[in-house]
Amino acid sequence: MSRVALNYIYNENARTRRPIIINKEMGNKINPYLLKKDFPVFQDKVDGRELIYLDNAATTQKPYTVIEAVRKYSQQFHGNPHRGAHYLSVKATELYDQARQKVREFIKARSAKEIIFTRNTTEAINLVAYSYGMNFIDEGDEIVLSIAEHHSNILPWQQVARSRRARLKYMYLDEDGRLSKDEVKSKITERTKLVCLTHMSNVLGTIFPVREIIEYAHQKGALVLIDGAQGIPHVEVDVQELNADFYVFSGHKMLGPMGIGVLYAREELLEVMPPFLSGGDMIEYVSEDTASFAPLPEKFEAGTQNVEGAVGLAAAIDYLNSIGMDKIHQHEQDLTAYALERMQGISYLTLYGPTDLEERGGIISFNVAGIHPHDLASIVDLDGIALRAGHHCAQPLMKYLQLVASCRISFYLYNTKEDIDQLIDSLDRARSWFSNGTK
Ligand SMILES: Cc1ncc(COP(=O)(O)O)c(C=O)c1O
Repeated sequence: MSRVALNYIYNENARTRRPIIINKEMGNKINPYLLKKDFPVFQDKVDGRELIYLDNAATTQKPYTVIEAVRKYSQQFHGNPHRGAHYLSVKATELYDQARQKVREFIKARSAKEIIFTRNTTEAINLVAYSYGMNFIDEGDEIVLSIAEHHSNILPWQQVARSRRARLKYMYLDEDGRLSKDEVKSKITERTKLVCLTHMSNVLGTIFPVREIIEYAHQKGALVLIDGAQGIPHVEVDVQELNADFYVFSGHKMLGPMGIGVLYAREELLEVMPPFLSGGDMIEYVSEDTASFAPLPEKFEAGTQNVEGAVGLAAAIDYLNSIGMDKIHQHEQDLTAYALERMQGISYLTLYGPTDLEERGGIISFNVAGIHPHDLASIVDLDGIALRAGHHCAQPLMKYLQLVASCRISFYLYNTKEDIDQLIDSLDRARSWFSNGTK
């Protein structure tokens, strides 16, 4: 069954959930109740319960259109791309190339040569670390990270720093979870070769001022890699306007399939970077002792590629575009404002991250007094609520915050204020059990 995403608004003034076709004067809000109908996971009970899915920073759910695109590819057009003259191989090549074009348009890159498909954000960062880092970062150079990085944007740089005798430097956050200008200026200097920064913290929800930091780093002669795993699913990204040197993300955090990710890099950089993995179709000519490589982007795509993943990602981009990234962002901001307002008034909760909505997105970390986050995640699961507990693959940040673990909720376009109300009811119940009825 295929469904078309509906560009409907939720008419809050009239206190009705009836869908009304888009009307700019009414605020252009999306109606998550309608959008939920596009997602099969919300049509049935999950493990016998209505699903309240608040773990979107880990991975997002898929609309029918994405599932259908992958099914159709697998059923009708599956072939090995770039390797055959027969119909299916040609068709798979066509779909793979179209998906690349779709990604290029979505992030507004100059050329499809700048879009390299990878398995995920982690692989994209490793590609840059092993190809750029191991060849262009030298002894004494500095690599500057924020303390809020996911392990995927720390470990590869630790390897580079170790092998190349470079130095890792961290930019620390202020008490509200933000990066101050002074901190940025004191860490990014003429010795900095590369800055690696997440677009949005997957723990605190802080949206970092990436454009300003990129501009400052460029003035100092450094390149910048933006980890967009929590950026591009939630805000409009224009890599040319940002002037990012590298921007990386995962399909599965933006309604697409797992196993497909993207490295965007400026063409001039990709031209001089050597291949990361080799073999398969990334060659021009191979002799017994040596090889020359295929032009971009194939030079960085060794072995048979994930065509169904690329097709699914393209369908996810179509779906996001049919709604509009500005509306998705606004919806998440509305949910975050609502959740913060409700949660800030609860005495047993400790919340982490910026209080100013302008500086954050739809990820909220918190702890409940007297309940370990892992216990809490299991208890709310009994109410059908999916949230994340643990160190969120950001142990240096957790240590900096003097936390062992936290709970995390994260929103996407299909979440509703009702989801937040139900979460809070469930937290209240958990708290009552743990404190023998006293809150
Ligand atoms: C900020 C950030 N970077 C990187 C990653 C790693 O993404 P993946 O596992 O898709 O490679 C995540 C995953 O949660 C993330 O939140």
